[in-house]
Amino acid sequence: MSNQRIICKSESLLEREKGVRFNLPELGERVSAFVIRFNGKPYAYFNQCAHLPVELDWNEGDFFTREQDYLICATHGAQYEPHTGHCVLGPCQGKRLRPILVNEQDGVISITLDEI
Ligand code: FES
Repeated sequence: MSNQRIICKSESLLEREKGVRFNLPELGERVSAFVIRFNGKPYAYFNQCAHLPVELDWNEGDFFTREQDYLICATHGAQYEPHTGHCVLGPCQGKRLRPILVNEQDGVISITLDEI
């Protein structure tokens, strides 16, 4: 069964700015995820570091490094490629964020859970 869900309007997801968090209660009480925009496209991942099972953002929605070129875990500074989720720096180098299928159409960003 397809489980598609609208996350936000396209206009509220700005290039390399704050990400939009959302919860996935059907997958667990504390399971959260986020979507960010990078080089024009939206990317969604589970909000869990590949190093330890903690959320990436201390300040809600802050996923990008100061230079806005990588996603960063606030706990120990692991950095991830925004478009692949691969960790390129930090304690979990070589691992990756768990992606979620994301779609943008008619000014709306949505995710599909059955493709993960
Ligand atoms: S928990 Fe994310 S880098 Fe350690």
